[in-house]
Amino acid sequence: MLGLIQKILIDMIKDISNEETLNEIKKLANVPLDKEFQMNVVYSDEEWQRLFKETLNVLKITDEQADEVYAKYFIKDSLERFPTWFQMSKNSYEFLLIQPTIHNCFATGVANSKDREKINDKFKVEKFPGKIITHYKSSNNHCGLYMKLAQKVINHYKDEAIIEEKKCMKSGGDECEIHVQWSSLAA
Ligand code: HEM
Repeated sequence: MLGLIQKILIDMIKDISNEETLNEIKKLANVPLDKEFQMNVVYSDEEWQRLFKETLNVLKITDEQADEVYAKYFIKDSLERFPTWFQMSKNSYEFLLIQPTIHNCFATGVANSKDREKINDKFKVEKFPGKIITHYKSSNNHCGLYMKLAQKVINHYKDEAIIEEKKCMKSGGDECEIHVQWSSLAA
């Protein structure tokens, strides 16, 4: 997992809690206390999963609450750090269509070809009039986060849409399949 994701989690923990809590989470997750995550460096998925799990555990929040609060920080960070991606799209339909492209742009900077392919292979988006179907496959199982982020993008553009997960790897599916159907879209 690219370090941008860990960086945002760490900023979030420091912001809603304190340095002491962050150190407790790092200790439980077996992450060295002085470890700094770099945005464009690939770190192990297992380490990320331990960090996320211990964050829920120590902050005493559910998966859904963690996805919600993390998505809030993620979108805020992305809007500040990468405003051009948002300016390029006139509405949330256009933005969610290019979401895999945004991810793949990060992958191009990754030297190891296996790590690169892993990033490229996570998301595929099918395009329909006023609707997308996202196919997501990852051992990180962040389909809940995908849906919270998609909702925040929809809110950002003041659009309206229904998001439904029709298939989920956590319930034994071979992938997660998320449908987004718009009822109102900025022109
Ligand atoms: C400018 C906006 C965005 C940026 C810069 C960005 C960047 C990234 C990066 C660098 C990763 C780590 C990729 C990896 O190591 O595999 C990631 C992961 C992820 N992103 Fe985005 N992203 C953006 C928007 C979105 C949006 C809008 C969604 C959902 C609608 C989304 C969903 C996810 C999910 C679910 C993951 C975790 C993937 C996994 O490892 O299973 N992202 N993002």
